[in-house]
Amino acid sequence: MNIPFVDLKSQYHLIKDEVHKNLEPIFENTAYIGGKAVTDFENNFAQKLGVKHCVSCANGTDAIYIALKALGVELLDDVIVPANTWISSSETVTQCGARPIFVDNDENYLIDVNKIEEKITENTKAIIVVHLYGQSADMKRIMEIAKKHRIKVIEDTAQAHFAKFNGQMVGTFGDISTFSFYPGKNLGAYGDAGAIATNNQELADKMRAFANHGQTAKNIHKFEGINSRLDAIQAVVLNTKLKYIDEWNKSRNQNAKLYNKYLNGIEEIVLPKEKENCEHIFHLYVIRVQDRENLQKYLNDNGIATGIHYPLALPFTEAYSKRKHKPENFPLAYLYQHEILSLPMFPELTEEQIIYITNKIKEYYKR
Ligand SMILES: Cc1ncc(COP(=O)(O)O)c(C=O)c1O
Repeated sequence: MNIPFVDLKSQYHLIKDEVHKNLEPIFENTAYIGGKAVTDFENNFAQKLGVKHCVSCANGTDAIYIALKALGVELLDDVIVPANTWISSSETVTQCGARPIFVDNDENYLIDVNKIEEKITENTKAIIVVHLYGQSADMKRIMEIAKKHRIKVIEDTAQAHFAKFNGQMVGTFGDISTFSFYPGKNLGAYGDAGAIATNNQELADKMRAFANHGQTAKNIHKFEGINSRLDAIQAVVLNTKLKYIDEWNKSRNQNAKLYNKYLNGIEEIVLPKEKENCEHIFHLYVIRVQDRENLQKYLNDNGIATGIHYPLALPFTEAYSKRKHKPENFPLAYLYQHEILSLPMFPELTEEQIIYITNKIKEYYKR
């Protein structure tokens, strides 16, 4: 049996007719950038998330950059960033002239809230929290810390669309939240796409202008900005998919439960935990094992694709080598980067496929 890591094709076939029908007016009206489709998506997304404003943009990386600029992050500022995340969360800080200050992760791969305060100085302007793999960071503690030290909070929600913390959607706690709709994300476009959400009108206006060359109206440039717009084709795809996202997130969660059931009791494996007060939407199902490369090869030889998110935690990537980070500065991130393995995860994954995958894992450990 061949099992892909993500199966975008089977989802496309489920909604193909609807997507094609909804796309037709875009081509007939040649309304490719902006317009009703984009506004409709922004309104629907804001409503579903429960925030006042959604500003769409070209991708999830731009979303973070736009958010940082709107919060006034600039030269000589520091921004707290988790050690284990995708580089968008830190490279955008550098692009503002500021410095990402990394914090180790906890055993759930999320920023370790007990290690944040020791990294805060008078230069700290903001913290970027990442709800990694689809699970919420401890937003209660993070908001308390941010309030105490008067720093701004950006929630990088690229991997956690509509996950919850204490019954509240992630992406609604901080000053601004950012989203990626990269095709493989839980809510994925058919190309690059992103968005920013906030309850603050002033920030929303600033971000909308910044993402469109600093324009507040056609040819009125209040300041210099960038070109980061969502195109109408992606907006239509996202609007069509938005109806199904709860169902798809639920299926992912059920698939995670099946993995847990079939992998239960294999002592070589550490399974992902769904924290008690969280609704995990399992963008990724990540296990930990000591002999990852061998297991990954064995699964690959048996037709099962896997991933590693991420093979090097950010402090140890070449991009930050000048900072001379040491393993003991980020002990869990350092340890886990050698052990984490993401198994296939998508809503359409069947129990039969999960049984095949978990049987192969059992077989590997019995050899
Ligand atoms: C946590 C996180 N932040 C930001 C991004 C950036 O999103 P995009 O690829 O749309 O720029 C991603 C996407 O991989 C991500 O996983």
